[in-house]
Amino acid sequence: MTKKRQILVTNALPYANAALHLGHILEYTQTDVWVRFQRMRGHQCYYVSADDAHGTAIMLKADEKGISPEQHIADMRSIHEADFRDFHISVDNYHSTHSDENKQYAELIYNRLVENDHIAKREITQAFDAEKQLFLADRYIKGTCPKCKAEDQYGDNCEACGATYSPTDLINPVSALSGTTPIEKQSTHYFFKLPEFTEFLKSWTRSGAVQDEVANKLGEWLESGLQEWDISRDAPYFGFEIPNAPNKFFYVWLDAPIGYMASFKNLCDQQNLDFDQFWAADSSAELYHFIGKDIVNFHALFWPAMLTSANFRTPTKVCVHGFVTVNGKKMSKSRGTFINARCYLDHLNPEYLRYYYASKLTASVEDIDLNLEDFIQKVNSDLVGKVVNIASRCAKFITKGNDGILSTHIADTALWQQVSDAGNKIAEHYEQREYSKAIREIMAQADAANEYIAAKEPWKLNKDPSQQQQVQDICSLGINLFRLLLTYLKPVIPTMAADGEAFLNDQLTWESIKQPLVGHQINNFKPLLQRVEKEKVDAMVEASKQEVEQTTKAILEGPLADEPIADEINFDDFMKVDLRVARIVKAEAVEGADKLLALTLDIGGETRNVFSGIKSSYQATDLEGRLTVMVANLAPRKMRFGVSEGMVLAAGDDNGIYLLSPDSGAEPGQRIT
Ligand code: 2FM
Ligand code: ZN
Repeated sequence: MTKKRQILVTNALPYANAALHLGHILEYTQTDVWVRFQRMRGHQCYYVSADDAHGTAIMLKADEKGISPEQHIADMRSIHEADFRDFHISVDNYHSTHSDENKQYAELIYNRLVENDHIAKREITQAFDAEKQLFLADRYIKGTCPKCKAEDQYGDNCEACGATYSPTDLINPVSALSGTTPIEKQSTHYFFKLPEFTEFLKSWTRSGAVQDEVANKLGEWLESGLQEWDISRDAPYFGFEIPNAPNKFFYVWLDAPIGYMASFKNLCDQQNLDFDQFWAADSSAELYHFIGKDIVNFHALFWPAMLTSANFRTPTKVCVHGFVTVNGKKMSKSRGTFINARCYLDHLNPEYLRYYYASKLTASVEDIDLNLEDFIQKVNSDLVGKVVNIASRCAKFITKGNDGILSTHIADTALWQQVSDAGNKIAEHYEQREYSKAIREIMAQADAANEYIAAKEPWKLNKDPSQQQQVQDICSLGINLFRLLLTYLKPVIPTMAADGEAFLNDQLTWESIKQPLVGHQINNFKPLLQRVEKEKVDAMVEASKQEVEQTTKAILEGPLADEPIADEINFDDFMKVDLRVARIVKAEAVEGADKLLALTLDIGGETRNVFSGIKSSYQATDLEGRLTVMVANLAPRKMRFGVSEGMVLAAGDDNGIYLLSPDSGAEPGQRIT
């Protein structure tokens, strides 16, 4: 047995303002497989995570919901924890960046940066929303692009022409929060003197701490010169106040990675572990961060520099992965491919996805495509068709023919040895995060096992009473090969492996692959995995579309402005939608709903009640008498406040909602074509 390693592993801490989606699950699967593999190899491997709970977005979300930020993050945390649990993510601790431990370490690190003269303080001028009394980050300012004149662009770049600029360059800038024109205001900010770490970072990023492709990208940034990093935000801000700086708060990204330490400290207190053994500057333990490619600068520049200044150890490796695409395209709400973790779990077994992701993951930062056809095909053909099939074909001959006792010898030692020896290569692939190579190798060995059984045809031999021992020997080897394959797959499909352990009456460890099971009692075989049904995948996509519809159309919460154009439809499809001119005869607020108005519509002799999420832009009384357009043949939908019998048409995003109206002269009930 090799030396026992001490390893601490983290994944990127999810923001406490949104549900987890299948992009998050890629990262947690990648991390969890690696952690489970290390534990199976006998190493001491801890895995911690937490909710990333601070910042303006979370503060605004809580405001919008009319609850305290503390309540909001507590709600989100329990939702996230349930998703983690149900995807079998084996964290040892799930914590929050809004915690005592995180405050303690954020202050400690900051104070050390101050002592080491790595903090600068100066006045800056920023856009300020005088109505909301808030400084505005670039993404909260919108206006017309100074270059191509496209309207409604964010404060830092234009999505139409790609220009980058500062929000002060925007034509007619407005606050996305209040719609008012921002003013400029001065304020004191605190900066981390990142440029002083340039030489250290040049060598650290080339030390094997990140993949080469990541080091190359970082090399470009390092060559073009680092800037001081603004680590403070003005009140009101949901976060930790900076020591000796009243009304100044740590920027969320300052205390987010410190959350890794905080969650581990919380675990240390629960389990009496030695925190310093993992975090002291001279620690011999290993520290691995798994993250996505969009947050490399925070983890491979700011974080190691801060840790160095504060006299803590730096990460052993920052493992960077790419994004998830679905069916070859960016996840899209309108296509139903922006799939939330919970929506997936409502329809499908988490181990299907864990397996599929593992079969595609490599150590590179390339994006991973979740092709839903391929997903069904691969899971069914590999897991059900190749792996489970070995056990289901062999088990019955052992349980019926030999009281469940495996033969006392291995019928084909060369084959056994080949599949057992493959474990070394497979382990090396897992270690290097080359899971797709590991899975390919495992499936190649599964093919060899299936070929052996197919060639021996035990079901035919079984008809001949003189061949009974032969049948037992063939099937016992089959079960032994199945056991090896399931051991190799255990980090990826832990629940199926646990069920397999119950069937084999054996614990699957990386040590146990060296010896076969002989003369060993097994239990009755029960099917270990159902095939993926296409209908369930389709239902998940449909449910994802519905979720979006409910939030964007009924509540108008998330803008669709940046969504790609929906899939093409033909004329007949269009004609299925019955659009009618409608007169709003009554409009009133809905008790308990922030965004809804209840509309009574006259569509020419027929009256409809419709709930519409337009309250933020319209006074109910102003709407009465006005003409609009409605979808008249939409199936009635039961909402929390009653049944909605159709939908009025409006364009909408964060900036405002614009109800559609026909020109004057149109009559209620006229069909729109
Ligand atoms: O990008 C994100 O989702 C961040 N919440 C990740 C934080 S990782 C760590 F630094 F906390
Ligand atoms: Zn532009």
